Amino acid sequence: MKNMILSHLPGTFPWQVHWFDTIDSTNTQAKEMARSGAPHGTVLIAGHQTQGRGRMGRSFSSPKDMGIYLSVILRPDCAAEQLMHLTCAAAVAMCDATENSAGIRPGIKWINDLVVNKKKLGGILTELSIAPGSDRVDYAVIGIGINCGQTPEDFPEEIRSIATSLLQITGKVPDRSALAAAMIHALMDMDSKLLQQQDAIMDSYRKNCITLGKEVVVLRGDEKRYGTALDVDYCGGLLVQFTDGSQESVNSGEVSVRGMYGYI
Ligand code: BTN
Repeated sequence: MKNMILSHLPGTFPWQVHWFDTIDSTNTQAKEMARSGAPHGTVLIAGHQTQGRGRMGRSFSSPKDMGIYLSVILRPDCAAEQLMHLTCAAAVAMCDATENSAGIRPGIKWINDLVVNKKKLGGILTELSIAPGSDRVDYAVIGIGINCGQTPEDFPEEIRSIATSLLQITGKVPDRSALAAAMIHALMDMDSKLLQQQDAIMDSYRKNCITLGKEVVVLRGDEKRYGTALDVDYCGGLLVQFTDGSQESVNSGEVSVRGMYGYI
């Protein structure tokens, strides 16, 4: 599989790709490799994850050979606060990759879900480590899962009604190695403009974000607040107009957002 992925990338390709038939989580393993000094551009891809992880402590269903489960280690030379838009940048990159490789462009459900036909096609989990005693980034891990060949029965019962795959959308199983290569290519492109082009990246994010203009429920612990999603700020916060008239920029670290009538 690794050679098939590399065959879709330029010969001079500077990043390093590691393939795992099975792994607990490419993000967990990427963090371990980063702590041991793995360089910028180390990519991990697995055929199967036994403990795939999502945002807010959720799991990510990762059945064998049915999706792309990919993480990359980045080591940008910057302060952590300059990377607040990283998840948004990765989400736009994954829309590009999916469109280029599979011919359909997902929308983005704030902040990190890739959505087609109101169902979740994939998700992104970014994890950041700060160098001790400073505000500088030591490493960032971006993990992406995209569902490719799953039929509804391949998803756990509890997410079956809200999850989809490229097979279900297009009627055919995509070339997973070509999709993985397109994802790596899009991540390299994102990396090259991450710090210099934040405004342009966030403009693309807003264009692709299907949450904007929608009535939403903001969930923080047991608290539920209702409002309308107005905008996404330059670092990825979601500006919500609540029904009591107040406006607040909500942060992805603390809250999750649902549509008023379901997942979207
Ligand atoms: C989410 O849905 O909240 C994010 C899902 C992220 C899943 C990917 S799969 C590759 C990488 N390894 C993980 O354990 N998670 C990410």
